[in-house]
Amino acid sequence: MATAEQVTMLIKSYYEQDKERFTTIALQMAAHEARLGHTSVAHEIRGIIDNAKVKPFHVTSIKKDVDDLVLLSDPSSRLIDVIAEPSAHKRLGRVIREYKQRDKLTKHGLSNRRKLLLVGPPGTGKTMTASALASELHFHLYTVLMDRLVTKYMGETSAKLRLIFDMIREEDGVYLFDEFDAIGAERAMENDVGEMRRVLNSFLQFIEQDRSRSLIVAATNNPRLLDQALFRRFDDILYYHLPSEDDVRRLIGNILGRFRIADEVPPDVISAATGLSHAEISLACHDAIKESILDDVNTVSGSLLTNMLRERQAVHDGRRSER
Ligand SMILES: Nc1ncnc2c1ncn2[C@@H]1O[C@H](COP(=O)(O)OP(=O)(O)OP(=O)(O)O)[C@@H](O)[C@H]1O
Ligand SMILES: [Mg+2]
Repeated sequence: MATAEQVTMLIKSYYEQDKERFTTIALQMAAHEARLGHTSVAHEIRGIIDNAKVKPFHVTSIKKDVDDLVLLSDPSSRLIDVIAEPSAHKRLGRVIREYKQRDKLTKHGLSNRRKLLLVGPPGTGKTMTASALASELHFHLYTVLMDRLVTKYMGETSAKLRLIFDMIREEDGVYLFDEFDAIGAERAMENDVGEMRRVLNSFLQFIEQDRSRSLIVAATNNPRLLDQALFRRFDDILYYHLPSEDDVRRLIGNILGRFRIADEVPPDVISAATGLSHAEISLACHDAIKESILDDVNTVSGSLLTNMLRERQAVHDGRRSER
């Protein structure tokens, strides 16, 4: 038998995804077995290692056919940092709970919820949520670039979508269909209705037929363009909103961290943040932190943050008037 120490090290190296170390320990275990006279076990372990050399330890590359349509990233967000309504957190918690205990559900002929639609204005945490779900479940985050799929592969979008759904089945992960409205938006326009109708239909079919273990997250900021038929295909729909005053306070507190404004977040700051998205407020906070670091001060002042937020408001208003 392998020593307890070897088994522990083996498990550790697996979770740290340290392939070299994993292989070294496995070879040590084979040698240990051989010394004890357990030659067939030693032989078997070495055989497994040799065969595995052909296959990658953990597939992290993306198939060539779709490698310009899917972005791979390691999740960096945490669910606890996503500021959203308690009901949204509760439902995200349910996704995780059902995923972790899916075997229990399967025994009763039930499946865990894993097809989510996130709806809300830009910068309110949709991508962040997908990333946080991946992080909670120790998955990679695969972002499917829907706009590129629709513009670059006009005429072969359904075939590409099929390949992406093959990948969803073969490689467990969180798959984010970002700018999901690319399908709906194009479809709403009069030109090429035929092609877009086909794409939408195949997307609906693929998502309906999907029995993978992956989580599928679609994000949009334009729900009106989406079809009722599409909504029905999701296990849950989560709505995101611009932050409330309370959310602004929490968000600023979280981001400023040790640069936190001494007392309560002043009312001026709150009013300067009104109407901005979480993403814009977060950028203003980072601007203020940088400014404070360069000025060699340890805390962000209320007036500095107010100025940074007003700058963001100006960018925001400028963008709005361009439309
Ligand atoms: N709800 C939130 N709570 C905390 N931080 C947030 C939230 N929403 C956005 N942020 C901050 O803003 C960044 C960008 O947000 P994110 O990309 O998730 O927005 P989005 O809703 O996907 O926007 P878009 O519709 O433009 O894709 C996040 O990485 C995070 O730093
Ligand atoms: Mg996004």
